[in-house]
Amino acid sequence: MKIAIDGPAGAGKSSIAKLVAGELGFIYIDTGAMYRASALYAIENGIKITAESFTKEILDKINIDIRYDGDGQRIFLCGKDVTKRIREADVSIGASDIAVIPAVRLKLVDLQRALAEGNNVIMDGRDIGTYVLPDAELKIYLTASVEERAMRRLKELKVKGQTADFEQVKRDISYRDKNDSEREFAPLKKADDAVLVDSTDMTIDEVKERILELAKERM
Ligand code: DC
Repeated sequence: MKIAIDGPAGAGKSSIAKLVAGELGFIYIDTGAMYRASALYAIENGIKITAESFTKEILDKINIDIRYDGDGQRIFLCGKDVTKRIREADVSIGASDIAVIPAVRLKLVDLQRALAEGNNVIMDGRDIGTYVLPDAELKIYLTASVEERAMRRLKELKVKGQTADFEQVKRDISYRDKNDSEREFAPLKKADDAVLVDSTDMTIDEVKERILELAKERM
């Protein structure tokens, strides 16, 4: 069985997907982490994020590996564990920018489909229900107001001992919303057959229960 969760930045997709995967014994695949690792490659190698930069030669050098351990998914870029680094703000913006480039998307979509093949998976991203796994048995479009998403991001940062400015976090999220939904190739969009879940006034637990209920109906 395949479950697709799409939605804008900071809607809680990955937290929810991890919990649901744990409950159902599914593999969780975080596709955003792959765009983030690709963006980090560009940042570390001084590569400008434009379509022209990502030739086949460069793309072949971006080696992304996903490994699973007790803590969940770890991401390796060219052999180095970048799980933490890819969560930083510069990589978030870079990931949204790199995700516009079709050649980058095609490479990562191949990897995503290969990971899903023959497994029970819950995959989150922007184009999972519309493009990567169009035949997924359950598609969720998870959203929340931009203010609520910015508040949640701020809280997450606080827990990590980092400070950030609410308006700046909100601006970064709005930038990514626009970039992700207005790009030409596989933009962020609710699939026609996706169930819309607006989590603005819901707890994580309520969202998890709602998705589990929908998953069980389709099993
Ligand atoms: O889910 P995330 O915030 O980790 O994703 C980072 C960026 O990657 C996001 O702004 C857009 C891009 N992305 C995408 O275009 N398609 C996906 N399936 C997942 C992420």
